[in-house]
Amino acid sequence: MKVLIIGADGQLGSDLLKIFKSSQNEVAGLSRGDVDISRSADAESAIKKIKPQIVINCAAIVDTERNELFPEEAFLVNSLGAFYVAKAAQTIGATVVYISTDYVFDGLKKYFTEKDTPNPLNVYGSSKLAGEYLTKIANPKNYIIRTSALFGKGKGPKGNFVSRLLDKARSGMEIKMVNDQFTSPTYTVDLAKTIQKIIRKKLPYGVYHITNQGSASWYGFGKEIIKLMKINSKIVGIKTDMSSSGIKRPMYSVLINHNLNQKKISLPSWQNSLARYLKEEDLI
Ligand SMILES: NC(=O)c1ccc[n+]([C@@H]2O[C@H](COP(=O)([O-])OP(=O)(O)OC[C@H]3O[C@@H](n4cnc5c(N)ncnc54)[C@H](OP(=O)(O)O)[C@@H]3O)[C@@H](O)[C@H]2O)c1
Repeated sequence: MKVLIIGADGQLGSDLLKIFKSSQNEVAGLSRGDVDISRSADAESAIKKIKPQIVINCAAIVDTERNELFPEEAFLVNSLGAFYVAKAAQTIGATVVYISTDYVFDGLKKYFTEKDTPNPLNVYGSSKLAGEYLTKIANPKNYIIRTSALFGKGKGPKGNFVSRLLDKARSGMEIKMVNDQFTSPTYTVDLAKTIQKIIRKKLPYGVYHITNQGSASWYGFGKEIIKLMKINSKIVGIKTDMSSSGIKRPMYSVLINHNLNQKKISLPSWQNSLARYLKEEDLI
C-alpha cells in the first residue's frame, strides 16, 4: 500500500511519516515547499505523479488568530485546498484522509460525538468544516478525522502548547491560562497510530473522533505539565472574558471517540501520553 502524506513536516505529518515508514509501507511525504494545496494544478500533478492508494491531508493553516485575520487564506487552504486534494485523489481511485478539528463545534454541551451537528464559532472552525464537506463531495472514499489540542515532536518554529508553556515557565513569568475552556489534549504519536489502524483495518469510511482519553481546561493541562516537569512556576487560572483574545472559541470541545469505541479501539489518557511525550523529548 502506497501512502502519501501532505503537510509532512508539520506536527502530525512528521509522526505519520515515521509511523508509516516503520511499518514497511511505501510512503511519500510532501511539505509546503513541494506542493501548495491551495493551487488545484499543484495538488493534482503531485498526487498523479506519486499515485498513492491513500492520501493523508494534514496541510492546514492551524493558528486561530491568523485564520481570523486572514479569512481568505483560511478558506483557500483549509477548505478549497482540501477539495483539490480530495478530488485529485478521487481521479486516481485513492482514499483521502482529511484531518479536522474540535473547533467545528460550538461548545454548548459538555462533549461531542460524531453524531452531533457542527456549528463553528470562528473562521478556523468554519474553514475546517467547509474542508470536511468539500472532501466528502469530492471523494466518496474519505475518512474525516477530528482531533484536538495536539502536542508532538514535529512542532514548528512557534512550538506547540507544551513547549510554549515550558518556555514561559522557565523564564519565571507568571502564566495565565483559561480555566473555563475544556478540550482533550492529544499526542500526535497516538493519533498517527490510530489513523494507521483505521486504514489497516479498512474501517467504514466516514467521520472518526480521535483524541486521548479524558479532558482538561487549558489551565489544568498547563498545571499537569508544570507538575510533571517539577518546575517551580506560578500558573494562574483565568476566565475567558479576562483573556486578551477577542476570538470566539468553544467552551467545551471535548470529543468522544464513539465510532472507535464501537470498534473496541481506545487511546491512553492524555496524562499518560503527556508523560510519554515529555520523556521522549528528554524533558523528564
Ligand atoms: N494543532 C492542533 O492543536 C490541532 C487541533 C485539532 C486539529 N488539528 C488539525 O490537524 C492537522 C495537523 O495539524 P498540525 O498541528 O500538525 O499543524 P502544523 O504543524 O501547522 O502542520 C501543518 C502543515 O501544513 C503546511 N501547509 C500550510 N499551508 C499549506 C499549503 N497551502 N500547502 C501545503 N502545505 C501547507 C504547513 O507548512 P508551513 O508551516 O510551512 O506553513 C505545515 O507544515 C491540521 O489539519 C489541523 O487543522 C490541529
